[in-house]
Amino acid sequence: MKQFSLKDKVAIVTGGTGVLGGALAWGLAQAGAAVGILGRRAAVAQALADQLINAGHSALALTADVLDHASLVLAREQVLEKYGQIDILINAAGGNIGGATVFGDVTFFNMTQAAFENVVALNLTGTLLPTQIFGEVMARQGSGSIINISSMTAQKPLTRVLGYGNAKAAVDNFTKWLAVELAQKHGAGLRVNAIAPGFFIGAQNRDFLLQADGSFSPRGQQIIDHTPLGRFGEPDELVGTAIWLASDASRFVTGIIVAVDGGFSAFSGI
Ligand SMILES: NC(=O)c1ccc[n+]([C@@H]2O[C@H](COP(=O)([O-])OP(=O)(O)OC[C@H]3O[C@@H](n4cnc5c(N)ncnc54)[C@H](OP(=O)(O)O)[C@@H]3O)[C@@H](O)[C@H]2O)c1
Repeated sequence: MKQFSLKDKVAIVTGGTGVLGGALAWGLAQAGAAVGILGRRAAVAQALADQLINAGHSALALTADVLDHASLVLAREQVLEKYGQIDILINAAGGNIGGATVFGDVTFFNMTQAAFENVVALNLTGTLLPTQIFGEVMARQGSGSIINISSMTAQKPLTRVLGYGNAKAAVDNFTKWLAVELAQKHGAGLRVNAIAPGFFIGAQNRDFLLQADGSFSPRGQQIIDHTPLGRFGEPDELVGTAIWLASDASRFVTGIIVAVDGGFSAFSGI
């Protein structure tokens, strides 16, 4: 199992302060990586870093905004000062933003340009910038694994989430484009892939998927009805795929998007 080990590797997880990013940070640490937890909420990043350190892992809290170039460069300096290398980047910062969701008073026709641009910026530019800034170190090293976080709505649009879906579709395109670019210009040690999670209860979708009493909302029920495994995912169910994509176990794999979705994307609904 040595090829799955992340021992001596240094990882950064953007959105490591969130539900999925936090689970991924734990998973990478348990596989042996030192982990930089990046988010805007310094206290949350530090609390997770402390938990990892107390559990015997190596971790560093990084306060940065994925849309703020200068804060990302500062985070890169902190990581290089402490660890001297960057081997793995998981771009997990992202999510939907209400104003770009066609729901309630928001129709396709009155959705504002600003709301659309905000959600595209967070999910697309917020993947691009960290990849430029941390990926540059990987290009210098001649090795590194970048893992973007896509969504079910990238390949087959879900209703309502227009801006988010557009942005995640672009993340899939970016994943494939960059896989080719880095391999051709920087060699076979650089790989770029994505994970497309199915439906996991997170901070930002809880109110959409569950009612106040914990039962499924109508949309939550619709999702379960279209998920052959019949349930929402648990955040740590992304970990195995992330370790595989981050490690040498996937050294001939680049430019793919792996669904971890309980069968949602395979099911036609009939
Ligand atoms: N949950 C699901 O079912 C699901 C399904 C498919 C895809 N996804 C994707 O998975 C990723 C993680 O989602 P999640 O459910 O774990 O959501 P979450 O709990 O809300 O975590 C998202 C994290 O992103 C960080 N973030 C947001 N804006 C940022 C910015 N400008 N700069 C830096 N960090 C920022 C937030 O941390 P700070 O507030 O500390 O900055 C937050 O902790 C997202 O890309 C989401 O689109 C989720």
